[in-house]
Amino acid sequence: MFIPVEKSENKNENYQKLLETLPYYINKDDPWYTTLANATAILDYFLDDINWVGFYIKHGDDLFLGPFQGKAACTKILMGSGVCGHAAINQKTVRVDDVNQFEGHITCDSDSQSEIVIPLLRKGSLIGVLDIDAPVLSRFDETDQKHLEKVAQLLVDNMS
Ligand code: SME
Repeated sequence: MFIPVEKSENKNENYQKLLETLPYYINKDDPWYTTLANATAILDYFLDDINWVGFYIKHGDDLFLGPFQGKAACTKILMGSGVCGHAAINQKTVRVDDVNQFEGHITCDSDSQSEIVIPLLRKGSLIGVLDIDAPVLSRFDETDQKHLEKVAQLLVDNMS
């Protein structure tokens, strides 16, 4: 894949580069899975210390595995279950510093130690969630949350 952007050592700068790069790979006429597929590749390129990044999409009452980068993962998550279902039902970002301390955490990759899940919301309706796992504890802080929520909004505003 062609991402002609040098990564930065600075986290904020790197997120700026990510947010500037993403629109080049978004075409409003493309189906949602095309947009989200490239988004996973771009997130995987720019984010350090992660082992899984992908989307679960709301289909019926549950969440189903969408485009992702990483090891094969569980295909269906019930609304309210795990970190993803929790973020989905509450329509709020969930940051987990240690997945072993999160009751009901669903293990897909045993390397995962911390996790962030951001809901994708359009006019208050849940479309799905962006889920990112890291092989280190406390990988995601407020800065990550702020920028990843912008990524989620950019995607929701531009995908069909
Ligand atoms: N850990 C998630 C399940 C999805 S995997 O991390 C890819 C959860 O508890 O919802």
